[in-house]
Amino acid sequence: MNYRHALNLFDLESIARKRLPAGVYGFIAGGAQDDRTRDNNRAAIDRVRFKPRGLVDISVRTQDVTLFGHRFSSPFGIAPMGIAGIAHFEADIALARAAARMNVPFVLSNMATVPMEAVARSCDSVKWLQVYMPADRERAARFAARAGAAGFQALLVTIDVPVGANRENNQRSGFTLPLRLSPRVIADGLMHPRWLGGVLARTLLATGVPRLENSAAHDRPSILASQSAELRASGATIDWEFMRWLRDQWRLPLLVKGVLHEADARQAVACGLDGVVVSNHGGRQLDGAAAPIEVLPRIVEAAGGKLVVLADSGFRRGGDILKACALGAGLVLCGRPFLFGAAAGGEAGVLHALQLLKAEVDRDLAMMGATSIDALSPGDVIIR
Ligand code: FNR
Repeated sequence: MNYRHALNLFDLESIARKRLPAGVYGFIAGGAQDDRTRDNNRAAIDRVRFKPRGLVDISVRTQDVTLFGHRFSSPFGIAPMGIAGIAHFEADIALARAAARMNVPFVLSNMATVPMEAVARSCDSVKWLQVYMPADRERAARFAARAGAAGFQALLVTIDVPVGANRENNQRSGFTLPLRLSPRVIADGLMHPRWLGGVLARTLLATGVPRLENSAAHDRPSILASQSAELRASGATIDWEFMRWLRDQWRLPLLVKGVLHEADARQAVACGLDGVVVSNHGGRQLDGAAAPIEVLPRIVEAAGGKLVVLADSGFRRGGDILKACALGAGLVLCGRPFLFGAAAGGEAGVLHALQLLKAEVDRDLAMMGATSIDALSPGDVIIR
């Protein structure tokens, strides 16, 4: 099936699944351990139900939202995904360009294999950068200065990876980082010649063995080298005191990503941060963690209007996004669906995914009897 025939984000995943080696698909789709967190993300969104209003003139409606002074055309954006280049050649650029065309935010991961400057240059739009910060303040300050010079307008520090996750599916498929070219991984690749030529060979020819070009902790480590060192040097050793210090280094919007506890939202306020991303990393970190939609009301309350509250993990339909917005999210990030869009059709595949989601938001907004995102409130949903 061609990506153009995808009627929704799940269809795009089916197309991508056929194109990608099983290990690569599993790396993207999977969660940690028993996938309870990942699966509950969807189940928890389903437990929120709409109470639509009738007889409202919805002939003129908008899904625009304004965040950090920029007016975006939809209440969703693209979540940061490391080593996205395994799904599509230079996927980060395809994701950034498609987001720019739709005027929605794209968050680049600092675990990307494309230099941040190249992504920044690839399109003229608002771009945010996510980072696993090392505790080494000299390196952290250097990273922040580089991000500012490249033109990134917001920094999101991920805090839910104090240690690497237990992703057993990756161990079974042999797809672990650092990447080991085992006979199994090679056989998996050979069975997907389109990926082998269009992604792997093209990448090797263009850049050689991919490197984490934006690592804050190390100097351009190869993906064949230790990734766990990158992670060990990140969340485990930074703390709220570090965030207070970073606040002074980075004057543009500063957020923490991976918040599930209202006490952490209060810490973010105390540190003078601008926002939080309520997220369980798409179920890829702590198995058994709460779903963002379950804790969103408490976090919005703790934020007390002093933080922009974003959410991600498991949002797949326009209606899912409206539920989060009704509960106080300023914008929702989606991850895997857009990477599957890139695998299925490159930039055009990502654009198709964004357009599908936009159409769903528009239709469901009308059916809710709402003419804007701001018009939604917690009273418009019930949580079973
Ligand atoms: C991620 N995510 C992630 N988050 C982050 O802060 N830094 C990163 O480098 C990555 N890398 C990454 C790679 C891949 C392949 C995936 C699927 C996810 C998590 C991501 O930003 C986001 O929190 C989740 O993907 C949201 O959940 P959904 O929409 O994928 O269910």
